[in-house]
Amino acid sequence: MNTILKVVDVEKYYGTKSNLKKALDHIQFNVDAGEFVSIMGPSGSGKTTLLNCISTIDMVSDGHIYLNERDLATLLPKEMASFRRKNLGFIFQDFNLLDTLSIEENIALPLAIKNTPAKETHRIVTSLMQRLGIDDIATKFPSQVSGGQKQRCACARAFVNRPKLILADEPTGALDSVSAKQLLELLTELNAQEKATILMVTHDPFSASYGNRVLFLKDGHFNKELQKKQMSRNEFYHSILLEVSTFGGEEPC
Ligand SMILES: Nc1ncnc2c1ncn2[C@@H]1O[C@H](COP(=O)(O)OP(=O)(O)OP(=O)(O)O)[C@@H](O)[C@H]1O
Ligand SMILES: [Mg+2]
Repeated sequence: MNTILKVVDVEKYYGTKSNLKKALDHIQFNVDAGEFVSIMGPSGSGKTTLLNCISTIDMVSDGHIYLNERDLATLLPKEMASFRRKNLGFIFQDFNLLDTLSIEENIALPLAIKNTPAKETHRIVTSLMQRLGIDDIATKFPSQVSGGQKQRCACARAFVNRPKLILADEPTGALDSVSAKQLLELLTELNAQEKATILMVTHDPFSASYGNRVLFLKDGHFNKELQKKQMSRNEFYHSILLEVSTFGGEEPC
């Protein structure tokens, strides 16, 4: 199996020597190509810290993270942005779309930065918008569409470059339950049909159940892993709920 992400014994501290906070504690896991992995944990357990370290926004205090076989600690500052663009797609809780660009232009942004010819960009973006059911809002601006549509647009933008790994931080956090379900189904489709590799952090058992496996983060370290295997999505959801209620964490939503 082709390993896209390899996290080896990572520790992350915040603060100064006299006031040190350990946010990540001996974190170790791999993500293989084509996987959809959920990381679950209560508030403050280290989910965003871990994503920030993987996305090169922050640096680990100890240990190593390999993305596409490259040790992130060896990246030079001048390489960071292009490495990130080539290998990673991001979906954030609050969409992070540019308000002055149309939906179509937002999705095209990663291609524009790469200097993809306009005709090819238009072809790629149009076909992706059709796939994701947002072609009817192509010329609208973010302020003119719903939260669910904004997040589908953010999904398309994260995927348009065909990155090695899509990182999603609470992607359903700002959505109502219907839009959240549509978004999760969209991620599942991108994973199953387009072979997108996805790492999603969430505190919500329902969202987590869309992954193929769930890693449970508590106080900065993993204390459990559940695999979906042959379970239906609903069976997997119930086994996650059971895990959360047995081992603590936040109340299920
Ligand atoms: N920049 C920072 N400086 C100091 N401490 C921080 C910083 N960022 C995070 N922390 C601390 O590290 C721990 C992990 O925080 P993190 O934001 O990763 O949690 P989280 O699981 O994403 O929580 P949430 O579900 O609320 O988003 C927390 O105790 C937090 O207070
Ligand atoms: Mg967070």
